[in-house]
Amino acid sequence: MTLTRQHFPEGFIFGTATSSYQIEGAVQEDGRGPSIWDTFCREPGRIRDGSNGDVACDHYHLWERDLDLLAELGVDAYRFSLAWPRIQPAGSGAVNEKGLDFYERLTDGLLERGIQPYATLYHWDLPQALQDVGGWANRDVAHRFNDYARIVTERLGDRVASIATLNEPWCSSFLSYDIGEHAPGLKNRKLALAAAHHLMLGHGLAMQTMRELNKKAALGIVLNLSPAYAASLAKEDQDARQFADGYSNRWFLDPIFKGGYPADMWDAFGADIPEVRDGDLKIISAKNDFLGVNYYTRSFVSADGQARPEGAEYTHMGWEVYPAGLTELLLRLQNEYHTPPIYITENGAAYPDERGTGSTVHDPQRVAYYQSHLAAVADAARQGVDVRGYFAWSMLDNFEWAWGYERRFGLFYVDYATQERVWKDSGRWYQALIGQAVTATR
Ligand code: FCB
Repeated sequence: MTLTRQHFPEGFIFGTATSSYQIEGAVQEDGRGPSIWDTFCREPGRIRDGSNGDVACDHYHLWERDLDLLAELGVDAYRFSLAWPRIQPAGSGAVNEKGLDFYERLTDGLLERGIQPYATLYHWDLPQALQDVGGWANRDVAHRFNDYARIVTERLGDRVASIATLNEPWCSSFLSYDIGEHAPGLKNRKLALAAAHHLMLGHGLAMQTMRELNKKAALGIVLNLSPAYAASLAKEDQDARQFADGYSNRWFLDPIFKGGYPADMWDAFGADIPEVRDGDLKIISAKNDFLGVNYYTRSFVSADGQARPEGAEYTHMGWEVYPAGLTELLLRLQNEYHTPPIYITENGAAYPDERGTGSTVHDPQRVAYYQSHLAAVADAARQGVDVRGYFAWSMLDNFEWAWGYERRFGLFYVDYATQERVWKDSGRWYQALIGQAVTATR
């Protein structure tokens, strides 16, 4: 089937996404304070290629050129994140105007080009000063996040189309404090559960504050969700599936959309459960205007952790290509959680692209990945899910966290030696899809 715009609901938004630390560079410019990723990258063995985000895609300087490329790509919207340490270098107190000015220029630059700005307040670059007092494991950080949300919303809330509080709180808690793969690199489940609770509390507090400011932007949160499938019907595999679903999905979905933690997981976490104060869950479960869903793959679960699905195909991250999981996830969100309108805020794939000698980088596997996942979104919409937009991850190849520059996700190839951006076939394919005239038959 050839995918066309006609397969999507009216007004559906096509965009692409990036995040501050992954593309901006300029880590010491215009008063930016250090973030936990600056620190983490300097710890030996943390980043696969020993790199860091000091320069990344140099987007802090090349932003106008990048916005021109976005205009050429033809996207309706662009999702970016703001670096908290540019705006409050010490994580609290004084505002660094130069930092805020950068995002104001970016926002206005998008609007001038007819592209809707979709802002994310927190995509993992916590000011180091806040980590020094315990990071998200410290309840006070939720209140500092609330202050920061107010500062940004006061300035930009009438110009950006949408504000998401957090990107993927699962990554900023479990992956960072329990699994230890992301900054601050701890392996302590109790701290991870405290961090998860305070992230959600920070989200809820910020939602209240931003609502009261009554700006035009739609308000919500972005979760990474990975539907879990059991390798067999055996009880041990089914139990493992239930745990995986609780650990990656329900621990966040239930408090936010049902106002309580899942009982089975509460029991399973035993002595590690977080301190929940009266009123917290009411704050956390405040109404969202939208839910952002980041989907890359499913988890395939067995009790021994060894099972692999037969005949599966994998990306360069080692993630299974499984588009049907996205349709099923969207249906579940609507049916079980009665979610607000959904945006796919990230979806994409890494492949080992090579620049070659031509003017375009050939990435047929990524084209196929986008095609099948967009078709999965269209399928969910056809089955009645209120899904309103899709953001390809990512606009540019960039600093892929613990993988450094060794994983490329862009619609544009970045030649890091020269900072050239080179179109990939996937970029051209997306441009063609978005550029299709919308006829009256829809
Ligand atoms: C998501 C992150 C994003 C990027 C992609 C590949 O978890 O939000 O920054 O790293 O994965």
